[in-house]
Amino acid sequence: MSIELSLRGLRAGYGAVEVLHGVDLDVPAGALTALLGPNGAGKTTLLSVVAGLLPARAGQVVWAGRDITRVPPDGRARAGLALVPERRGIFTALSVRENLEIFAGHGAPPDAALAAFPVLAERLGQRAGSLSGGEQQMLAMSRVMLRDPRLMLLDEISLGLAPRVTRRLFDVVGELARGGTTVLLVDQYLSDALRLADVVYVLARGEVVFAGEPGELAGRALPGYVTSVLG
Ligand SMILES: Nc1ncnc2c1ncn2[C@@H]1O[C@H](COP(=O)(O)OP(=O)(O)OP(=O)(O)O)[C@@H](O)[C@H]1O
Ligand SMILES: [Mg+2]
Repeated sequence: MSIELSLRGLRAGYGAVEVLHGVDLDVPAGALTALLGPNGAGKTTLLSVVAGLLPARAGQVVWAGRDITRVPPDGRARAGLALVPERRGIFTALSVRENLEIFAGHGAPPDAALAAFPVLAERLGQRAGSLSGGEQQMLAMSRVMLRDPRLMLLDEISLGLAPRVTRRLFDVVGELARGGTTVLLVDQYLSDALRLADVVYVLARGEVVFAGEPGELAGRALPGYVTSVLG
């Protein structure tokens, strides 16, 4: 597997607090990498640094062989990086159709993204804020899929959703990875993410405590505060 995204000695934080304490992480191309870890581990912080929304204080972000550590977020987006943020990032006051159109820009028909989530096609005129939690997450993913990104960062898309809805979202994520998109999926729990992942990282207190294939995780002794949450 060739490496699409590589983090080396990454340090980042907020004010006087350092959250990521020198993280090394390799995301293989055209595969699904799961990044797991308890609340406050630094998962969202890590995605923010990869997307360019938070500066790295030390270390490097290398994407497709290029050091992008100092490239601003819009430059990364134009190069094919897409983030589905933890709180979905949709415009709740606008309709489903308007949300899709804003992201699609000129030309791309919103219909393309609706094939994966047909329920949204029935809700095009509805205000996004009035969609169910699962439908809002589908919209957030559709918006990003419209751009056919090369690298997709997904932050806890399963949060607060029924298992059936989560399964549908994860199935779509799996299809994207099989279609050649590189996916870095953040989640708190092992179950669904492990079913799909090619590679798993566990982050705890800003440090990588496990890196390997999903099958290797079961027998591995992890700190108690990690297993109690992930289990
Ligand atoms: N904007 C911010 N300002 C100050 N501290 C922050 C900020 N965002 C996050 N933190 C702190 O950084 C640490 C890591 O937070 P982060 O959101 O990256 O964790 P996480 O692994 O995504 O957790 P969760 O699973 O709850 O989403 C936490 O201690 C958090 O309080
Ligand atoms: Mg988070």
